[in-house]
Amino acid sequence: MKKGRQLYEGKAKKVFLTDDNDLVIQEFKDDATAFNNKKKGTIAEKGVVNNAISCKLFTMLEEHGIQTHLVEKLSDREMLCRHLDIIKVEVVARNIAAGSLVKRYGFAEGTVLENPIIEFYLKDDDLDDPLMNESHAVALGVATFEELSVLKKRAEEINAILKQFFAERKLKLVDFKLEFGRHKGEILLGDEISPDTCRFWDLDTNEKMDKDRFRFDLGGVENAYSEVQKRVLGLD
Ligand code: TMP
Repeated sequence: MKKGRQLYEGKAKKVFLTDDNDLVIQEFKDDATAFNNKKKGTIAEKGVVNNAISCKLFTMLEEHGIQTHLVEKLSDREMLCRHLDIIKVEVVARNIAAGSLVKRYGFAEGTVLENPIIEFYLKDDDLDDPLMNESHAVALGVATFEELSVLKKRAEEINAILKQFFAERKLKLVDFKLEFGRHKGEILLGDEISPDTCRFWDLDTNEKMDKDRFRFDLGGVENAYSEVQKRVLGLD
């Protein structure tokens, strides 16, 4: 496997082509942004931690029948992935009210949602990733109704698997964001699942163990990420 030219640089990762057209390499950076790039910084060793956590979670999801883009972990910061045609929809699943759900609808933070909420956002930084419904997504041409119904169902399945996985590791899965892509007629889970893209609260203390520590300057960011890594990788 030969690493080729850089295809893309995002806020937290770079993507490289390889000598196989079907495969790319995702390289995890330590750069952190929040509020669509308005806040910038770095989190020491975040790339290493998020790659390790994502590889473990994708492998576990595959074992539960969820197709992902993961092929294999190549190195500390590199993940070999199937090359996806990314669907420009960010799918958010929520179990407990936090973040923009609290701001937008007035839920008290921490309210347990009896039925998980699934939301679609348009993946477009210039527009600040606006919330959208299925009709918006289809009108914009980013996905079909059939694809959106697959994304919703897949997000619900992934949520059920992850919720149990994290509960066994003494973490509440508050909410998280997923991205999917098309590959050879299938829809695969892409991107990453990490403390950058999820909210985790300690099961006993409700301490925040995710990127909210960076977003809101709560301190102890690196410690929280490495504690999540320990809990995710430590139990098998
Ligand atoms: P929100 O409450 O800010 O809408 O975020 C919901 C979840 O999605 C939270 O776990 C963080 C994650 N997320 C991302 O991964 N990327 C983003 O750009 C945003 C806004 C949220």
